[in-house]
Amino acid sequence: MRKVVLVTGASSGIGLALCKRLLEEDDELHLCLACRNMGKAEAVRADLLASQPTVEVSIVQVDVSNLQSVFRASRELKQRFQRLDYVYFNAGIMPNPQLNIRALLSSIFSRNVIHVFSTAEGLLTQQDKVTADGLQEVFATNVFGHFILFRELEPLICHSDHPSQLIWTSSRNANRSNFNLEDIQHSKGQEPYSSSKYATDLLSVALNKNFNRQGLYSSVVCPGTALTNLTYGIVPSLIWTLMLPFIWLFRFFANAFTLTPYNGAEALIWLFHQKPESLSPRTKYMSATTGFGSNYVITQKMDLDEETAEQCYQILLELEKHVRTTIQNSDHQS
Ligand SMILES: NC(=O)c1ccc[n+]([C@@H]2O[C@H](COP(=O)([O-])OP(=O)(O)OC[C@H]3O[C@@H](n4cnc5c(N)ncnc54)[C@H](OP(=O)(O)O)[C@@H]3O)[C@@H](O)[C@H]2O)c1
Repeated sequence: MRKVVLVTGASSGIGLALCKRLLEEDDELHLCLACRNMGKAEAVRADLLASQPTVEVSIVQVDVSNLQSVFRASRELKQRFQRLDYVYFNAGIMPNPQLNIRALLSSIFSRNVIHVFSTAEGLLTQQDKVTADGLQEVFATNVFGHFILFRELEPLICHSDHPSQLIWTSSRNANRSNFNLEDIQHSKGQEPYSSSKYATDLLSVALNKNFNRQGLYSSVVCPGTALTNLTYGIVPSLIWTLMLPFIWLFRFFANAFTLTPYNGAEALIWLFHQKPESLSPRTKYMSATTGFGSNYVITQKMDLDEETAEQCYQILLELEKHVRTTIQNSDHQS
């Protein structure tokens, strides 16, 4: 039986590179592309099949920032599959990023320069907005939509006799200081992206605690800084191109500059080959690239504690209850 791999955000960047690399590694997979834009998804499917005609590639349409869309996609997946062996929760947004030029310049002359450039800590703010479901968009996309997808797909992912892997694309930018359990959606702050990625890290730890016995193993990865639509939102591609010679030099000191989506997918591919039981729940697996362009994976113990992870999980469960009731009530009224 073919192993089934579901990838959200497979239409570009890291997700697309991941799909190509997965099929290069194992052409017996069934790859399911979970994308919001069907036109893009069809083009990716055609491209993947053109290079490897024997592989099986299907599409499920899902906008993870929209709960109705998540429920509809989950129903479709439950009809199509009995089991998901690997689930990559990779779709993510960083809307309207603003680069703090003053912080950038002062970091260049600080002792922290490598850390700041590798994590973008303190360099980026974003402008968030509220979705039709009344949620903060960054939280809804990067965390909550995926959480609901997980909850709906539990019967396909949790089998005690057969482990499955859930792999979240987090970030080195996940920062404890930007996260607050009392404002889990980060509606009051200016760094919703960092907050959402920290919430992802917490959630992954809590899922391991609650679901390992049921055969579900969750991990978080950081792809490093890779040039994708997401990073082109921070500075335009032309500026990135002009900066490339400096970045290549800097890469001899800072391995986080993976630069290409292919390199960025390294940790995601590495996890695909691991026995999930051997992975450490509190470790972040990070793609890294040497100055000479070789890829490897480094690990980092996450700056979090299990109690906060469980609290975060419980808050998400409460929010889930709330949104389900709201949706049921509005269904009754219409
Ligand atoms: N690039 C980096 O340097 C970097 C660093 C750290 C972490 N990351 C993380 O890596 C992941 C992939 O990002 P990327 O760099 O590859 O950026 P990207 O090229 O912009 O890809 C993002 C993907 O997510 C999809 N997506 C966004 N919102 C969605 C929604 N509401 N519903 C369904 N799909 C949605 C996009 O679909 P469309 O094609 O339809 O827009 C696209 O396929 C993200 O989680 C990001 O936070 C990236």
